[in-house]
Amino acid sequence: MDVITTVRGMKEYARAIKDRRETICLVPTMGYLHEGHLELMRKGRTLARHLFASIFVNPTQFGPSEDLARYPRDFERDRRLCEDVGVECIFYPSVEEMYPASYSTYVDVEGVTRHLCGASRPGHFRGVATVVAKLFNICMPDVAVFGEKDYQQLVVIRRMVRDLDMDVQVVAHPTVRESDGLAMSSRNTYLTPQQRMEALVLKKAIDRAKELVGQGERDTSRIKKAALDLIGEAPSASVDYVEIVDPDTVEPVGTIDDRAVIALAVRIGSTRLIDNAELKAP
Ligand code: PAF
Repeated sequence: MDVITTVRGMKEYARAIKDRRETICLVPTMGYLHEGHLELMRKGRTLARHLFASIFVNPTQFGPSEDLARYPRDFERDRRLCEDVGVECIFYPSVEEMYPASYSTYVDVEGVTRHLCGASRPGHFRGVATVVAKLFNICMPDVAVFGEKDYQQLVVIRRMVRDLDMDVQVVAHPTVRESDGLAMSSRNTYLTPQQRMEALVLKKAIDRAKELVGQGERDTSRIKKAALDLIGEAPSASVDYVEIVDPDTVEPVGTIDDRAVIALAVRIGSTRLIDNAELKAP
């Protein structure tokens, strides 16, 4: 397996593959890989001849008071996991390589970033869209795989690809969960054993919402209240948002006509966790 740290080296590597008319799949990550990432990679292996992963903790998607400095990192472990799962090449650039001193160009996706994490993490999706656009230009994938756990991110990237006419197929992979239901996330490692138990309220709130919709409830304010009441039972939980949105526009909806997405961001202690699920009227 190759590890490439320069933009130039990565472009040359990808270009040689494209010149042979072979396909590339990219799985972009910020490292500290877990089973959720590995699932994306296993899926990626089936989608193209060459599988690339990128590992880059992207500073432009972190706000000033967020966890950039303490974001978990373990490249040696990530390298072994990538190799085991069949990654051919890891793109592992430094911050200076991706954002040299005079860097000044950003991608802003409007509309679908107005609510949820777009509202509570100003600038976050500008950083995500910018780095993903750069990764697409550098790694030249035909297809890229993203997890549905970051639902709004997936919508943002799809919109960017559509609006900027990028020749990349974006494939979504369902959220991978621990056996007790907690969505896998590199940030789960911040949780103490007590907080780890309390973190289950995110999935419980989603399950309660699904149950209500299954029973015929369509009024999103009643569904959100039930979810909030449940989260309120966890002493270390504080809600950032619980919202029910249109799956395409990511705009909040008052009633569920057919399909909607419940999305939540909850702090357990100081760890901010997100989760989401489709709510489908029976
Ligand atoms: O989902 C992530 O890990 C990141 O937001 C991504 C897509 C790798 C961009 O930095």
